[in-house]
Amino acid sequence: MSGQWWRHAAIYQIYPRSFADGTGDGIGDLAGLRNRLGYLKDLGIDALWLSPWYTSPMADAGYDVADYRDIDPLFGTLADAEAFLAEAHALGIRVIVDIVPNHCSDQHPWFQAALAARPGSPERELFWFRPGRGEHGELPPNDWQSNFGGPAWTRVPDGEWYLHLFAPEQPDWNWNHPEVRADFTRTLRFWLDRGVDGFRIDVAEALVKDPALPDFADLPIGVPAPWLDQDGVHEIYREWRAIADSSPQEAIFVGELWLTDPERFARYLRPDELHTGFNFPFLSAAWDAGELRTVVDQTLATHAPVGAPATWVLSNHDVTRVVTRYGRADTRHTWDLTREAHAADLALGTKRARAAALLSLSLPGTVYVYQGEELGLPEVQDLPEEVLADPRWERSGHTDRGRDGCRVPLPWSGDAPPFGFSPAGVRTWLPQPADWKALTAEAQSGDPGSMLTLYRTALRLRHQTADLLAGGLRWLPSDPEVLAYARGDSFVCVVNLGVEPVELPEYAEILLASGDLVAGKLPADTAVWLRTA
Ligand code: NOJ
Repeated sequence: MSGQWWRHAAIYQIYPRSFADGTGDGIGDLAGLRNRLGYLKDLGIDALWLSPWYTSPMADAGYDVADYRDIDPLFGTLADAEAFLAEAHALGIRVIVDIVPNHCSDQHPWFQAALAARPGSPERELFWFRPGRGEHGELPPNDWQSNFGGPAWTRVPDGEWYLHLFAPEQPDWNWNHPEVRADFTRTLRFWLDRGVDGFRIDVAEALVKDPALPDFADLPIGVPAPWLDQDGVHEIYREWRAIADSSPQEAIFVGELWLTDPERFARYLRPDELHTGFNFPFLSAAWDAGELRTVVDQTLATHAPVGAPATWVLSNHDVTRVVTRYGRADTRHTWDLTREAHAADLALGTKRARAAALLSLSLPGTVYVYQGEELGLPEVQDLPEEVLADPRWERSGHTDRGRDGCRVPLPWSGDAPPFGFSPAGVRTWLPQPADWKALTAEAQSGDPGSMLTLYRTALRLRHQTADLLAGGLRWLPSDPEVLAYARGDSFVCVVNLGVEPVELPEYAEILLASGDLVAGKLPADTAVWLRTA
């Protein structure tokens, strides 16, 4: 727990609405989370990242923040948050909270004040208000599109338009304004003073916009979009880094950076900026040895010049659950593939997800586990349309089912919904499949063959194995369909992504395997950790 803990931490993502319900309203909350801290301790993680817990109308499940320095009543109170932080810390678990600086909620008092003020007023300058185009200003100021579908502009009654890269309920802040900067500084300090150990930065590359707001279609191909990765964003993170560095707890940042250019990505991880960024190329890669080897090599090469640790991420609350993704014909993550259901062989997907767990938990750097990954939960692809809550569903004119399928409340115990998530008889905010009995934490706890046991064992070994907590990796000679690498003096991981069983290299002991060996060979879609000396 000391000295640059973030360079090799195992971090578990909590999606508060869906983790555990302590108050009996069908929605996860801080009371539920506090009840389950023992489970997280037993799992063996070093830190938690919590998706937003702030006051919010929940137009985008809390990524629309109305008060950055208070807790939404759905989840509890500020006192509950402080008690939770103290309890997590007492167990040796650090806590990273989400910060949402690109946009707020349309219910944020400053946006409400901007709506009430006149065009050109100082209140409106905190956001991106502009007159429209067309004869009567009836057309949006430019051609930018919202990430959730439709134009990125909404018109207000006096005729002006405001920018929102996401839902209309999420107006974008104007980061050129000193008051916006100063207020986020206050927010960072507020939570650091309460002992949080870091921040996950939502849409970290989008804060600064090209002030000319040019049409995207007119720009040459290859130029970054005018709302993304603008050079001015780095100045903000340098200021934030100095604030984190001045905290006694070694607080860190992890950026949500969906940039495709590795050099542009690395700029965010320079020593005086963010500590880490999510590895989305890894999360997006197909279950294919060549593709994964390339991603691992590129990741390490991208991070080395800036001295930042890599992160390894298989999934999160925005993408298809791994067991389902790896069971599909197309095993990549793409946003197109998340729009609707696709057939999946869950037995195959589970086998691969087990192997992928041993892969991601033994690569050099920090690793993220999204809640439910350790239970091998599949994506719930058949949620009834009437329960879909993701704004993508409405905004897309019901052509994109959105991300609710990976946000279904966790199954803890028992034979039927709500599976211990809520008290018996309570309807959870998204319905759980009736057949999740074998996937509950309780059912898996004593089962040596379960996904939960695999994660618990792997996380324990990761902590005990010095070779896994420092240094890089060395590829070992192998078939092209096999990933085989050594770490330190005596650790080897082999993952077979081919169809035929393969021989293992010489070893002293099998530390852990994701499935049974067959006549001493490693079967398809199986991984093994070896001690070689
Ligand atoms: C990324 C978050 O992970 C996602 O859930 C959210 O909808 C968008 N940012 C907008 O805040």
